[in-house]
Amino acid sequence: MERITTSSELNEDSRDEFSLRPQKLSEYIGQDKVKERMNIFISAAKMREEALDHVLLYGPPGLGKTTLANIIAKEMGGNLKVTSGPAIEKAGDLAAILTTLNDYDVLFIDEIHRLNRTVEEILYPAMEDYVLDIVIGKGATAKSIRLDLAKFTLIGATTRIGMLTAPLRDRFGVLCSMEYYTDEQLKEIITRSSNVLGAPITDEAAFQIASRSRGTPRIANRLLKRVRDFSAVSGEEIIKKDSAIKALDLLEVDSEGFDRIDNKILEAIVDSFNGGPVGIETLSYFIGEELDTVEDVYEPYLLQRGFIIRTPRGRMATEKAYKHLKRNYNKSSEQEVQINLFHNE
Ligand SMILES: Nc1ncnc2c1ncn2[C@@H]1O[C@H](COP(=O)(O)OP(=O)(O)O)[C@@H](O)[C@H]1O
Ligand SMILES: [Mg+2]
Repeated sequence: MERITTSSELNEDSRDEFSLRPQKLSEYIGQDKVKERMNIFISAAKMREEALDHVLLYGPPGLGKTTLANIIAKEMGGNLKVTSGPAIEKAGDLAAILTTLNDYDVLFIDEIHRLNRTVEEILYPAMEDYVLDIVIGKGATAKSIRLDLAKFTLIGATTRIGMLTAPLRDRFGVLCSMEYYTDEQLKEIITRSSNVLGAPITDEAAFQIASRSRGTPRIANRLLKRVRDFSAVSGEEIIKKDSAIKALDLLEVDSEGFDRIDNKILEAIVDSFNGGPVGIETLSYFIGEELDTVEDVYEPYLLQRGFIIRTPRGRMATEKAYKHLKRNYNKSSEQEVQINLFHNE
């Protein structure tokens, strides 16, 4: 079954995707550091009448990478061409895309860490000098020719910056780390979305949804739509706090935005591994979830909210986790030391 709290895109998201997606930098809520830098780079590029430097956006799914790429293309006055790492199979596929670009266009490559090496090598001269080196013919008669490309901007997005090769990473002029949103920012996004959807919401109800959205706009919008349906069935004209809470409880999203699996992870560490440390592989196997999913989706949020910490010997549950599960916290001094040592990593 698909989880309501997954940060990956679900089919149900795409229906209102177009209308909910902010179109201008001024409508893009939060990510202030990223926005401020992009504003400067965009203005500078426009002033010099040059293409914007290549941008790498990295961070967990659902935080607004694709949305930001759209906005950047608009602000630069270029067209946006969208593709993804796994979609480009051969060097020729990429060459075909690159030759269709015009000055100021933006090429967006999602999941750029999944590009294969031969394709990636085409990108290096394209990014650096706006040229494409292609080989014509085979064997002894083969010759290499060089084509000029338009002055385009590459925007790469990845959930896994560690998987990018150094030569590719180094060719991006602007590296932007996407942060989880605060509850206050999510509340703003939810209120904006509710207006777009024509389903007004009280401040308190918006805050309820915000606090259970795992810092992620994609989840916030999805929960809002479910709450709206629930509230509509109850005959409300404006979405109220009580129905928001009831709907979220029905969806099994708890007060921290955790679902069954987050809680399973915490319970495993606390109850079955005595608070940890336990290796991530062991933990994933123990709860019967894919290692990748645990590493990309569950762990980052549990870490960010301080429910678990990472130590060289594995993951440990913090006092917050014990409290959340309503367990007594009485850790041995050795574990205390570990927690203090690695808390600020
Ligand atoms: N800063 C933001 N302000 C308002 N809505 C946002 C913002 N970032 C993302 N969203 C909403 O969340 C959804 C998911 O964003 P998306 O750009 O697809 O995330 P990513 O590409 O990082 O997975 C979008 O449809 C958009 O409506
Ligand atoms: Mg995306």
